[in-house]
Amino acid sequence: MAFRQEDSGLDAIFVVSSQPRGEGRLAFTRRFAAFAVMLVCLACAKPAPPRADRPWTPAERAILASLTPIPVPPPSSGNRVADDPVAVHLGQALFFDTGLSANGKVACATCHQPERWFTDGLPLARGIAQAGRNAPTLLGIQWLPYLFHDGRKDSLWSQATGPLEADVEHGYDRLALAHRIARHYRAPYETLFGPLPPLDDLTRFPPHARPVPFQSSHPHHVAWLAMTEADRIAVNTLLANFGKVLEAYERKLLPQEAPFDRYARKLLANDPTAVQEISPAAQRGLRAFIGRAQCVNCHNGPLFTDKAFHNLALPPIAGQTSLDVGRSLGAQSVKADEFRCGSIYSDTQHCQELRFLNPRFADFLGAFKTPTLRNVARTAPYMHTGQFATLNDVLTFYRTLPGQARVGHRELVLTLLDADVNQADLLAFLETLTGPLPDGQWLHPPQPIPPPDAVTGVAP
Ligand code: HEC
Ligand code: HEC
Repeated sequence: MAFRQEDSGLDAIFVVSSQPRGEGRLAFTRRFAAFAVMLVCLACAKPAPPRADRPWTPAERAILASLTPIPVPPPSSGNRVADDPVAVHLGQALFFDTGLSANGKVACATCHQPERWFTDGLPLARGIAQAGRNAPTLLGIQWLPYLFHDGRKDSLWSQATGPLEADVEHGYDRLALAHRIARHYRAPYETLFGPLPPLDDLTRFPPHARPVPFQSSHPHHVAWLAMTEADRIAVNTLLANFGKVLEAYERKLLPQEAPFDRYARKLLANDPTAVQEISPAAQRGLRAFIGRAQCVNCHNGPLFTDKAFHNLALPPIAGQTSLDVGRSLGAQSVKADEFRCGSIYSDTQHCQELRFLNPRFADFLGAFKTPTLRNVARTAPYMHTGQFATLNDVLTFYRTLPGQARVGHRELVLTLLDADVNQADLLAFLETLTGPLPDGQWLHPPQPIPPPDAVTGVAP
């Protein structure tokens, strides 16, 4: 499915591009682009700067209507407990549990801190060690068909299985997880999923084991291979269920109404008090955002993302030695993932997105996911590399587009930010996308965190 329900307000304006189905990428039709340029040119006769008080044209109003309100999230893909209150509560407890790590100090909430809009304020995330990418916000992920900057996971529940065993993140292992769940979370787990495997039998279920790709002599890998296939599947099922309860909790972390939404709602209802909701500078910035700055080409829909992948050809960051091919590898990985849609751990076999995904698509090279812009003023630093400290730095990048792609080619849709666009106005607009944090009940552990178990000694 390339065109989603929540995008339907754009019917008249956008068409699905010639990219392979399943990427959901939207582009302006040539005809509309020409029409829009003509309207903008007619309205803003140079040299007068864009004015906030000019009435919004029907074309502009149609775009505004496509950006608000925030709809309810789509149903989960392949998780039958996604909306079960017991799962929500268990997922919330596990999200804050630092016991789920090799050193007893790292939880999901280490890098996705509620008070920082579920980011960590660092350029590159830090768990057991430094990760290679910036930690994105979790507010708004419920709409994404592909997770991670390179889209290497196709559901929230499958995503959550990744950080747990990543050496630089939790550095944990699926057998330790199974034992910890049995020790501290047995009752809610069994209510949701039935009896745990006989984990007391340590000859069948060792304290630590997991597959370790490319390290066949790693003790965890050796222990994993020594298990029977049926027991490995039982533990994988438990790991998938861990992901499913985390998704249930994450589905509560929704972006909230922002000043922009109130402005647009009132404006579309012809309420003259709309202008009190956001500043004149922000109104000018909004006009630029959906007009001559062309941001809405990619940051569209109520989440301000096309949920697709583009190569912006960012300047390299200091110390970066290898080239990050982004979506090319992400698309390959998601097709081969053991927890993908349609796998034996998935509660659905309807996997339209994956069916039409072609990892060899040339434009995937060096491309990364368009992030949501909701709450963006609270989630610095920016880009998958965290290389821009401020929103102003991001806009300066769009204005100058320095350098060229080190891998693949820069997205053709991306053009230099028009010199007439006032950067301060655009900034003022981006700040109107900040809403409050989700309800306070979701921002802390729901119960005391159990003490860490004996640590594995894998990492400092
Ligand atoms: C060490 C810091 C760290 C920890 C711990 C961590 N994450 Fe993340 N998270 C990241 C980073 C960095 C990324 C982006 C990685 C990438 O794209 O390659 C990410 C990406 C995500 C995404 C995808 C968001 C998107 O926009 O695609 C979700 C969802 C997520 N994390 C949830 C979790 C959950 C649930 C846990 C706990 C099981 C967790 N994270 C633990 C740092 C962390
Ligand atoms: C060609 C599609 C495209 C266009 C056009 C575009 N963006 Fe982006 N934007 C992206 C992608 C993709 C990223 C993430 C790149 C990365 O991490 O490598 C991004 C990142 C950002 C970020 C950083 C967000 C974060 O959480 O890290 C901001 C802010 C932003 N864009 C604002 C804008 C503005 C303002 C405009 C218009 C001047 C604009 N973008 C135009 C695709 C686009």
